[in-house]
Parts: sequence; C-alpha cells; structure tokens
Amino acid sequence: MRKMKLLTVILAVCMMLTSCQGVQQEDEKASIRIGISLYRGDDTFINNIRGILEEKAKEYERENDIKVTLDIQDAKGSQNIQNDQVERFISLGCDVLCINPVDRMDASVIIDRAMTAHVPVVFFNRQPVEEDMNRWDKLYYVGVDAKETAVLQGKMVVDLYRKQPEAVDLNGDGVVSYVMLEGETSHQDSLIRTEWSVQTLKDGRVPIEKITGGIANWERSQASALMEQWLTEYPDTIELVISNNDDMALGAIDALEREGISRINVIGIDGTTPGLEALENGKLLGTVSANKERYGSVIMELAAGCALGEELPEEYPLEDGTYYWTPQEILIHKIEENP
Ligand code: GAL
Repeated sequence: MRKMKLLTVILAVCMMLTSCQGVQQEDEKASIRIGISLYRGDDTFINNIRGILEEKAKEYERENDIKVTLDIQDAKGSQNIQNDQVERFISLGCDVLCINPVDRMDASVIIDRAMTAHVPVVFFNRQPVEEDMNRWDKLYYVGVDAKETAVLQGKMVVDLYRKQPEAVDLNGDGVVSYVMLEGETSHQDSLIRTEWSVQTLKDGRVPIEKITGGIANWERSQASALMEQWLTEYPDTIELVISNNDDMALGAIDALEREGISRINVIGIDGTTPGLEALENGKLLGTVSANKERYGSVIMELAAGCALGEELPEEYPLEDGTYYWTPQEILIHKIEENP
C-alpha cells in the first residue's frame, strides 16, 4: 500500500515536471524578438524594405500564432552607433539580428558580438566581405545580384534602341551621349552597376559616348546638384542619364524640370515608391525593381527560422547555405505614350 502511495507521488511529480517543461517550451516558441538596424533610416529604398519587413512580421504572427517583436533602429550612417545598437539588442535578449551594415568592410565587431552571444545575424542590402561571412554558419545575407541588376538596366536601353533608335539617340547623330550618376564608392553595388550597365550597352551595340559622371551617394539632392551643373556645362548634349538608383534618377529629373527639359531619358534602379510614381507618369523611362515582397519575406523567414531553430522554406534556396539573391525585373514606361 505504502509502495502504491509512493509510486503515485512519483508519478504525480513526474507529470508536473513534464507539464511544466511543456509550458516552458510553449513559452519559448510563443514569441520572438528581432533586432533590426538600418544603415540610414532616411534612405528611400531601405525605408521601403523596412515597411515590408513590418508587414511581413505581422503576417508571420498571424499565420504562425507567434508574437513577433521588431526593434528597429536607425544607425544614421555611423558604424559606432550601429555597434552600440547591436550591443543593446543582445542585452535585451533578441533571438536574432537583421543588420543593414553601415560599413560593409567592417562587420567584424558585429559578428564577434553575435558569435559570443550565439545570436544569428541576417545581413541585408550591404554585403559584408566574404572573409567575414565565412566566420560562422549562422550568418546570412539577403540582397540582389548587382551584375544582374546592371545587365537588366543596360538591356532595357538596348531593347528600346533596337525597336526605336530615335527614342534613344534623340538628335539622330548616330551616338547616344550619356551621363552617369553613381552611388557610394564603398558600396558593392555602385562599381558593378556602373561597369555592367555600360558594358551591356556596348555588347548590345548601342553607340554610346560618356559625357561625364559623378558620385551622388544614392541621394536625390546631390544628384540634382550634379545634373544642374552638367546641364550648364554641356548644353543640348545629354541624351541619356544612367543612374545607379531611383533616388538619384529623381534628382536628375528635378534638375531637368527646373530647366523645363523633358526629352532626356532617365533610367534608375530599385523600383521605390517615388520611382514607380515617376515611371507611371513618364518622367522616368525605366527602372530595375527587386521583388521587395520576396526580399522582406526571406529576411523575415530566415530571422524567424534562426530564432525558432527551423529551416528556411524550400522555395527560398540559399547559395552556399548563406546567400539569398532576390529576383528582379525591368519596369519600363511605355514609350508610345512618351511625348
Ligand atoms: C542600394 C540601393 C540604393 C540604396 C543603397 C543603400 O542597393 O539601390 O538605393 O538604398 O542600396 O545601401
């Protein structure tokens, strides 16, 4: 009888322990906290991605019945600020970090901290150097392939030139005179986009001539100032503005509008909200747009997967188990509608 009682007590204790463990496991899976740091909160493309991440987090919450807390911080262009933000995310117990690095060459401090604290990192948009990415198997990168972007940007002009040369060679002298607006020098996208958009035009046998070019650091106002200067220095010469992104393309358009010029073709990259608006009303000839829904989904799925110890869904293949390249497409204003 005594033995029976003892057995019952042991059983009851075991059941209590198991059920407590169950509650604890459920608790662990009931919520995740993601620390996100943006290199600059005022960058238009990054802001678009931020909005999508917020949407995707809500969607993930609804579909998986898991509370997702996003802690989004602006590093304001300072790597030191970003390092401090990472420190804070870790001390707050974030399960995973999504980092848009300020200085892609200097991600080592972030990686050191994350590795020590066993917190995985999903980098995005500004690709850390390979040596850093190879340091740990819990480091990921989501972005777009810069060469592919540039080839698509060049291709949209090649295709148009083949169909309607007069829509590109505006003065019909057999040469397309262009200016180039470049992003930050330290960004992996700038050099590659500049090189391959031009190379694609050459490969596609568009007779081009570079008038001038300059660095406007992705910024609309800097591009606008450069374009204003070029219009004065090279009046009635420029036929095409090739821009490394939409914001700088919009800056060039601002300068053109101030001068009352509407004929010059301007092409960008990103498919940002204001970029798409300019495309719609024909001010921007074309852009190369990354699938931002997919971009945001992959970051969210990767982050949640890291936090919960789950695999990334098969529909999102990772190159070398580390890199996800977001698909992109050409968006061009219907030239027939152009004046
Ligand atoms: C580029 C994008 C730019 C800017 C930059 C920031 O990929 O085209 O518009 O957002 O990233 O890193």
